[in-house]
Amino acid sequence: MRLRGERMRTILGMAVVAMGLCGCSASTGEPGAADLQRAQAARPSDPQLAERYERSCMACHAVAASGAPLTGFTPHWQRRLAQGMDQMVKHAAEGLNAMPARGQCNDCSPDDLRALTRFMSAGAAQ
Ligand code: HEC
Repeated sequence: MRLRGERMRTILGMAVVAMGLCGCSASTGEPGAADLQRAQAARPSDPQLAERYERSCMACHAVAASGAPLTGFTPHWQRRLAQGMDQMVKHAAEGLNAMPARGQCNDCSPDDLRALTRFMSAGAAQ
């Protein structure tokens, strides 16, 4: 087990170096101009949800350097998705560090928060 762990770390280390050399936005985990444009343009398909999203979540989740994971930008969501959708929705409802409770959307129901979290953490396809 210990050996496997070390080998894994070596592989991860090499991957990090390779990403640094590549400089691609997707692999360094930093969004490029196209990722930001896509985040600005994306809306939930449901009109009421889109209105709530525009009014609250977008202010942080569709801009660079806000500290919030960018809408539709997979590298920002992968680690968060790993904890499970329920945990993410709980954080959306209760807040997490600089993430305000309910994302400052006072009329967002728990279902809305779940749908918005799904929308933001999904890939560009949505
Ligand atoms: C004032 C800025 C701000 C607004 C508005 C905002 N967020 Fe966030 N959000 C953040 C920040 C910053 C984080 C990263 C928090 C951290 O991990 O420390 C975050 C993280 C999250 C996460 C990930 C939680 C996790 O478990 O990793 C979810 C889900 C989320 N926000 C949902 C929403 C939803 C839904 C809305 C709109 C209803 C919203 N946010 C509005 C700033 C904001």
